[in-house]
Parts: sequence; C-alpha cells; structure tokens
Amino acid sequence: MKSSNNRRRFLTKAAIASGFAMGLGQRGFSWAPPTASATKGPFYPIPDIDKQKYFDADLTRLDEKSPVADGQQIVVQGLVLDMDDRPLDQVIVEVWQACNNGRYNHPQDRNDRPIDPNFQYWAKMLTGADGAFSFRTIQPGKYPGRTPHIHYRVVAPKRSELVTQMYFESQAEYNKKDGIYMELKPEQRQAVTVGFESKPIAAASGSTDGSDLKLPTGLFRIVLGPTGDAKATRPM
Ligand SMILES: [Fe+2]
Repeated sequence: MKSSNNRRRFLTKAAIASGFAMGLGQRGFSWAPPTASATKGPFYPIPDIDKQKYFDADLTRLDEKSPVADGQQIVVQGLVLDMDDRPLDQVIVEVWQACNNGRYNHPQDRNDRPIDPNFQYWAKMLTGADGAFSFRTIQPGKYPGRTPHIHYRVVAPKRSELVTQMYFESQAEYNKKDGIYMELKPEQRQAVTVGFESKPIAAASGSTDGSDLKLPTGLFRIVLGPTGDAKATRPM
C-alpha cells in the first residue's frame, strides 16, 4: 500500500504528463482569448492562503493522517497558457471553494450548513515549465444563489492577476440560472466550464495503489493576457 504522499506525487506526475501532451498537441494552431475574470467573492481565505496551516494540492483531507472529507472526489488538471498556447512557468494558482455541504470556511459565510472539519477549503500551487498544475478535491456543493464552482486566483510573473471561477458541465441546469455565469459571453462560459470523465488516475501514473482506481477528472485551461495587459483582469 503506497502512502498518501506517494499518491500526491503520482497525481502531480500524471497531471504534468497529460498537460504536457495537450500543450504540445495544440501549440501553434490556435489563438485563445484570455480567460474571463470573475468576482473574487467574499470568501477568499482569511488570513492569506499561504498563512493557512494546510494548503497542499489534496483538499480531500487536511493531511495524510486526517479523515477524508465528505463528497464526491474529483481531480482538476490545469494548464496555464499564454494566448499563443505556450505554457507559463512559475505561476501561482490559488483555489478556494465550498465543501460538499455548500459551505465555505470563512467567517462571512452565514450559511447555516455545517463546516466539514476534514475538508481543506483551499490550495496553493505553482506551475512548472509545462504550465501544469493539478489538485484533488470534492465536487463543491451548491449554496443559495450560486451554481457549484471553484474560485481561482492566478498570479504570473509580469502579468496582471487573474481572478476567475470554474464551472461544471454536469451542472448545466444550475449554470444557466447563475447570474455570474450568465453575464459571461457564450465563448467565455465555454472556456470556464469543465467536463469531467472518470479516469484511472493511479494506472495512468504507474501506481499500483488500489485506492485511486478512478476519479472524475477534468482539464481546465487558463489563458492569461499579454505581459502587462491590465485587461486580463479587473479590480476586485
Ligand atoms: Fe463562491
């Protein structure tokens, strides 16, 4: 039985492998507009995400010895690219979201649903030369007024910060009733809506660990505007 540490490393390797392949396959053939920004919302981690005790890329538990959070586990494989489809290195990617109950771990969340003490509500990652990042989490719960989503803050050297939200193709019924989602143009919505397929995570990474046979896995491509382009984001 491999440890969770190993599992985390395998996840990262799998993400890098698949991200690298996709980057290569599409580079040079397309031009993509920058990912649309979206409101940061009131629940950005307090204090700052890097002052939190737990912010590694496995949100399904606080650490290797902790119980597992409630809900459907998923894997998000991400790629941060420029508009010419080139991967961006050394990009900080922060994510935060609600737990399975649709509750944020934030004092301003007045929702009366219980906090999941085992869920790590945020993560902070850094892309490598292939622009890839990956995290394991729980399908976020729905909370009043919003369709399920994951918040992102993306900070690349010499570029404007991008704050955006990622949505789920499987939640189309809720998505189309969501004001923040629907204020995007159709092509912008498509770019931030991710489809998840059940994939053999462990097998893809060469692990023999039976704990990760298949998890719904989706690819989120984040495109940043040109260096110094303030239009890639907007003030929060
Ligand atoms: Fe939110």
